Amino acid sequence: MNKRFFITTAIDYVNGQPHLGHAYEKIVTDVIARGRRSLGEEVFFLTGLDEHGQKVQQAAAAEGKSPQAYCDKLAADWQAFARKLELTIDDFIRTTDSRHKEIVQASLTRVHQAGQIYKRTYEGFYSTKEETFLTDRDRRPDGTFDPAYGEIVTLKEENYFFKLGEQQAWLIDHLEKNPSFVQPDYRRNEVLGFLKNNTLEDLCISRPAARLNWGIPLPFDPDYVTYVWFDALVNYISIPAARGDATITGAFQSAIRNPQFAIRLWPADTHVIGKDIVKFHAVYWPIMLKAMGLPLPKQILVHGWWQKDGAKISKSTGNIVDPVAVIDEWGLDAFRFYVLRELDIGPDGNWTDAGFKARYQAELANGLGNLVNRSLSMLKRYRQGIVPAKHDELAAEAAKAADETRDRLKQNQLQAALQSIWGLVTRANQYVDQTKPFSLAKDPARAKRLDEVLYNLAETCRVLAVLLWPFLPGTATKMYAQLGLPGVPDKFAAAAWGGLPAGHKIGDPAPLFPRRDV
Ligand code: MSP
Repeated sequence: MNKRFFITTAIDYVNGQPHLGHAYEKIVTDVIARGRRSLGEEVFFLTGLDEHGQKVQQAAAAEGKSPQAYCDKLAADWQAFARKLELTIDDFIRTTDSRHKEIVQASLTRVHQAGQIYKRTYEGFYSTKEETFLTDRDRRPDGTFDPAYGEIVTLKEENYFFKLGEQQAWLIDHLEKNPSFVQPDYRRNEVLGFLKNNTLEDLCISRPAARLNWGIPLPFDPDYVTYVWFDALVNYISIPAARGDATITGAFQSAIRNPQFAIRLWPADTHVIGKDIVKFHAVYWPIMLKAMGLPLPKQILVHGWWQKDGAKISKSTGNIVDPVAVIDEWGLDAFRFYVLRELDIGPDGNWTDAGFKARYQAELANGLGNLVNRSLSMLKRYRQGIVPAKHDELAAEAAKAADETRDRLKQNQLQAALQSIWGLVTRANQYVDQTKPFSLAKDPARAKRLDEVLYNLAETCRVLAVLLWPFLPGTATKMYAQLGLPGVPDKFAAAAWGGLPAGHKIGDPAPLFPRRDV
């Protein structure tokens, strides 16, 4: 049994609205997952929801619902959102799943037994809104706390803490020896800087059940529930455990159900997350795993944050992009294309409606769409849709685009991969303008030249469908259908030049991205 390439996203807070930022992270992860599968790897793609906590408890109470009923309703919306984005997920974790709670408790027991969890009284400033203790370090220069924290009260209570002290040296060493552990490099450097210049304070991992009961009880003290990160991060191992991954079940001596279906997932190959939660993934999570006796994930891949029109995305100010509305109006692949082409994994991005429309028109309608439509329409018109003899005029350029796309996919350079693919789109459109098949068709003496040109164009469209599959799966599928090819272009190996056999009859061309008045 081979270990699968295991890739995860952050799990979203169930009580938020799915927005552009969530959609982006999930699409990026989907492209990497599809790309790996296309290249022949076995992949497991996990996403899901973070459902516990005070805000959920309060919101449910305000609606007169039980927290579970409240979560169930929202979870259905999030799962519909994942389907809308055509995510090729292998599982969807909800932190209220019993399979998850069981592993959270098993991991807490393990860390507690290892002497890494202790109880102490803590007195501090507490933000009810953000469910967090604040220290003097959180004060602004004028001494006040950011109004975003809401009302601040002083709270004194006993809680459980996870020991983080004395853990810095090995983690610094790990980051220095494994440059790809946190990517991009500047994020890795930030984590290193943070570890070298600060002492880690022990992490509070509980809340008294009397104050917060919507959480997973601590196995060693039922008067407390687990608070946030010991619940949320553990999703990355609770699903492997539920799937019978012996690395996890062995460590926790938990039951392996249905061993015949057991798969190997851990350690994760890539955790895809946003820049705001790097510390939890690159500092707390490795320390938690070490305390559990488990290997560390191979990579934490950090993306930036989207803004709209240069300002923070915010429901309260109405500055939002509704991915579902954009998809309903323009199609899923137009949305996937814009976010992937506009923003590399790393820096922050800025959505503008004008930018979206400009890319749609130039790169999708006039670029890819026009190429496929005119190539196939001419083959239909001049050769009754029958593919002429193989000819290799664009073979080298197609091979170059395929090689670059493969390398860039492997390195998670999705924006650069799209640039390589569009290099081939542009070249093939120039080829039409230069060879002028519409003129060749008027001169019977040039029939052979017309055959050559038509072959090169149709075959380039086929190669493009294969290269595009991870990014624009619906479009790639339509391109295969219009070429009269069965199935979906989901095997990268099919990008090798010459796959279209002479004599093959193509299907019916139809515009992939209709031009719009914008
Ligand atoms: N529940 C925690 C994560 C737990 S992971 C074990 C959480 N949830 S969240 O809903 O607030 O955010 C989920 C993901 O969406 C995070 O990776 C976050 O960075 C990302 N984004 C939220 N807003 C974003 C943008 N405006 N732009 C890009 N990504 C953003 O944090």
